[in-house]
Amino acid sequence: MSTLELQDVSVSHGAGAVISGVTLSVTGGEVLALVGPNGAGKSSLIESISGVTPLATGRILLDGEPVERLSRVARARRGIVHIEQGRAVFPSLTVRENLSLTARTPTAIEAALTPFPELEKRIDSPTGLLSGGEQQMVVLARAFAAEPRILLIDEMSLGLAPVVFMRLMPVVSAIADSGVGVLLVEQFTQLALGIAREAVVVAGGRVSFQGTAEDLQADPDLLHRAYLGG
Ligand SMILES: Nc1ncnc2c1ncn2[C@@H]1O[C@H](COP(=O)(O)OP(=O)(O)O)[C@@H](O)[C@H]1O
Ligand SMILES: [Mg+2]
Repeated sequence: MSTLELQDVSVSHGAGAVISGVTLSVTGGEVLALVGPNGAGKSSLIESISGVTPLATGRILLDGEPVERLSRVARARRGIVHIEQGRAVFPSLTVRENLSLTARTPTAIEAALTPFPELEKRIDSPTGLLSGGEQQMVVLARAFAAEPRILLIDEMSLGLAPVVFMRLMPVVSAIADSGVGVLLVEQFTQLALGIAREAVVVAGGRVSFQGTAEDLQADPDLLHRAYLGG
């Protein structure tokens, strides 16, 4: 199993830093919940891990090896897979074609569909004909088909009915159980904390809480203070 470590990471968009001095680690086999208010810098942080955005300062290590200078493609090849905010399937391609874009092996497609029997039935349908929830399942299955070591998930719930989103959470949990380290950014804080072992709260670009998800879930006041910046 793999470990991803962020050491003193800062990110800026133009003039000001939107992430400052973030240190955290994501361990294979576990979900780390990354939560915080809108505009806190969560997306910017995970974009810097996958290579969408360069770091201003700091280091990112995958199993002890620096990756912060690698291109996005090179990081993906090493197993850092990013599900970006907002749904992104290729609607005119079938479910199978969407999965084969990322699948490392033919068997990876089958494995990725196992948690979603409803998709197996529609594997040769254009993905654009599926419901929003089913399309999000394709997004998740496609990421899993890439055989990630570290999976970064940015606000999968966006635009989904809560009931659909709740269907996806156990799958994320199962992906982690298979040995993948999952960094889960989510607005439905309680649901994210429910499947996470560790949690990090980011507010104003800085870490305002770092500890177990259980502690944060058990103490609404602690969560509230962390959202306000600790
Ligand atoms: N491409 C960009 N250019 C300039 N500012 C940006 C860009 N992306 C995000 N920001 C700013 O960075 C801050 C953090 O945004 P973001 O990382 O999207 O936060 P979150 O995902 O926690 O809502 C916000 O103030 C946002 O306006
Ligand atoms: Mg965001």
